[in-house]
Amino acid sequence: MQLSVKDIDVFYGGRQALFGMRLAVPRGAAVALLGRNGMGKTTTVRAITGQLRCRRGEIIFGGEKIHGLPPQRIAQKGLGLAPEGRQIFPNLNARENLVAAAANYNGAKSPWNLERVLELFPQLKPRLNNMGSQLSGGEQQMLSIGRALMLNPHLLVLDEATEGLAPLVQKTIWEKLREIKQTGISLLLIDKNLGALCELADRLCIMEKGALVWEGGGDALRADGGLQARYLGV
Ligand SMILES: Nc1ncnc2c1ncn2[C@@H]1O[C@H](COP(=O)(O)OP(=O)(O)OP(=O)(O)O)[C@@H](O)[C@H]1O
Ligand SMILES: [Mg+2]
Repeated sequence: MQLSVKDIDVFYGGRQALFGMRLAVPRGAAVALLGRNGMGKTTTVRAITGQLRCRRGEIIFGGEKIHGLPPQRIAQKGLGLAPEGRQIFPNLNARENLVAAAANYNGAKSPWNLERVLELFPQLKPRLNNMGSQLSGGEQQMLSIGRALMLNPHLLVLDEATEGLAPLVQKTIWEKLREIKQTGISLLLIDKNLGALCELADRLCIMEKGALVWEGGGDALRADGGLQARYLGV
């Protein structure tokens, strides 16, 4: 496994949000994390990326324990994040947003750089000198993904990458994620679009109240209306 989350408990102050959560992402695979609002998807992401501490359990990435490390160190090990809400720096222009954290810590042979990100997202080219705050939601999302790629991650985590975007822009993002996967980068995907997730993900995981309650393939989930109704409210 490239990423193994093992029985983690995570709290916000005195309030427990994850209860023995577990999750595994094989190398090169795309895994989807699903569940209704407030079930703990973003909290799981925050624990993986080092923004929240685990009070119990462990997180192994590339064979190393990463729980307890600061977010910067975890990113350097090859874990990229396109966070919920995109978190674009509003007062930096698009180019500055992209190069702000660019690095090739792990010596990738053909690293992601500005040129390559613009090849993937040509829409960003004419927007490079625009401030982050001036970009559309879709452009901001492309920027957020591009910025994460500039770290040359082995695993890219995407928390609600298509939320609030027009259908056509969403379609573009899904296509680009497929291209990114084809380069060998593993993906951990959180999204509301069950159809798109089932197409792209090799495996799907459902969370309920801070824990994993179901794991399986897209065909099994698509065929099980009861499962969808119970855990996804669809
Ligand atoms: N910063 C915070 N402080 C306190 N509690 C929080 C905080 N962020 C989330 N929580 C709580 O933790 C639980 C899990 O929330 P989380 O954001 O991980 O859910 P989610 O599955 O990502 O939901 P959504 O689909 O709405 O993004 C919820 O009960 C939520 O209210
Ligand atoms: Mg969330």
